[in-house]
Amino acid sequence: MAKPVADSRSNRAAVQATNDDASASKLSCVKKGYMKDDYVHLFVKKQLRRAPIINRGYFARWAALRKMLNQFLDCEPNADGNGNIRKQILSLGAGFDTMFFQLQDEGKAPHLYVELDFIEVTSKKAALIETYSQLRDKVGETASISSEKGEVHSDHYKLLPVDLRNIENLNDIIAQANLDPSLPTFIIAECVLIYLDPDSSRAIVGWASRTFSTSIFFLYEQVVDTIKLNLVFFYRLDPSLHPFNLSSNAILSQGTVDTLLMYCNDLLAYYVAY
Ligand SMILES: C[S@@+](CC[C@H](N)C(=O)[O-])C[C@H]1O[C@@H](n2cnc3c(N)ncnc32)[C@H](O)[C@@H]1O
Repeated sequence: MAKPVADSRSNRAAVQATNDDASASKLSCVKKGYMKDDYVHLFVKKQLRRAPIINRGYFARWAALRKMLNQFLDCEPNADGNGNIRKQILSLGAGFDTMFFQLQDEGKAPHLYVELDFIEVTSKKAALIETYSQLRDKVGETASISSEKGEVHSDHYKLLPVDLRNIENLNDIIAQANLDPSLPTFIIAECVLIYLDPDSSRAIVGWASRTFSTSIFFLYEQVVDTIKLNLVFFYRLDPSLHPFNLSSNAILSQGTVDTLLMYCNDLLAYYVAY
């Protein structure tokens, strides 16, 4: 089970290195045919073969997120009659996640996709986006990419550096990324908050709840052990955005309307089988 770590330089580097581990595990899944991702190999230096139980866990995580994301992107809570519904995805501690590129391929990318991480991580990601034409083409020809600043700015995609523990900085990000707090927003915190102290995690959840009027917060953590992966999510304000009719568990209290906690096997059964 991952443990929260204090903020020394080496711990910060160790937390960032969890991103390399996540990408290598995703690639292991892809190689074994659990899931499709045409981009993750571009982010992996050293290919690894994971044990089947790890592959299954990553598959469950991926399948659950994809199912919820698809439902968010497919539902039309505020259609303006022209089929022109603007939605946003905000990924906290996105690491080298490739969801934006996959959604582009599928023609499902939202109006705006914003990724945040430490500058050390966003710098590397920006450099890789600049290097590989498969990635550069997806962010668009007019995108401005700076590996020094760790930033990518295009009309529909932003990569920005931030320490998530600094809520003031998160407020600045709204403006820098052109996020519109009134638009339906899917916030992803996938294996990120576990690395923060509890006060920072609570502050981030509270910030998200106060900032976005209509949002889903997808939180995924390994909170029991490597086998029993838990999933928590909540939604707020607009029930039409909620993909399922679920009973409420008061797991998080920072402005949540509904929460759900699931174990890995239930998660596989619920999200993958149906
Ligand atoms: C295990 S990785 C997960 C990456 C990605 N969400 C995924 O699921 O593939 C954790 C990520 O959270 C980032 N992270 C952890 N603490 C952070 C903080 N205080 N500010 C910004 N990013 C942070 C790390 O740098 C790392 O990229």
